[in-house]
Amino acid sequence: MRLAVYPGSFDPITNGHIDILEKTSKIFDRIIIAVIHNVTKQALFSLDERVELIRESTGHLDNVEVDCFSGLLADYVRTKSACAIIRGLRTVSDFEYEMHMAMMNKRLVPEVDTLFAMSDSNYIFVSSSAVKEAALLGGDVSSLVPPVVVRGLKEKLCGR
Ligand code: PNS
Repeated sequence: MRLAVYPGSFDPITNGHIDILEKTSKIFDRIIIAVIHNVTKQALFSLDERVELIRESTGHLDNVEVDCFSGLLADYVRTKSACAIIRGLRTVSDFEYEMHMAMMNKRLVPEVDTLFAMSDSNYIFVSSSAVKEAALLGGDVSSLVPPVVVRGLKEKLCGR
């Protein structure tokens, strides 16, 4: 059983994340999307909301499930006996941060490698933060995130 963990903040999940999952779910038997519970980082969506949005957006992927983690990612992947960590790469500017994280994780859990999947060119500029900023300023983000996230953003932002 080839199990991979796809970790992140997913605040909120975007079509870029879905694209990475659609590609990598063909390679692995099972993928766990691991949503970080980070008490020091202010998120727009609560942990439960992020998990629910992911669940509703990934229902078409049979071998993908959602979980939460806190603390070290290396500890989490070890407890799951995962063989890989999945991360998406958009541009060269992502690379340095991702490389350091992959090296640190490799040191902490040597039996697990990080696999990078290239984002589709349609999503190279798509990040959760850019989506939130655009939505906050009234931009149409419906081509960048799943419909359930569009609705979630509207609900969150209409009160502001
Ligand atoms: O979606 P993000 O915010 O780019 O995801 C970053 C994440 C959650 C994968 C990363 O911050 C993480 O793994 N945090 C857990 C703490 C940890 O293991 N740190 C050591 C690795 S450098």
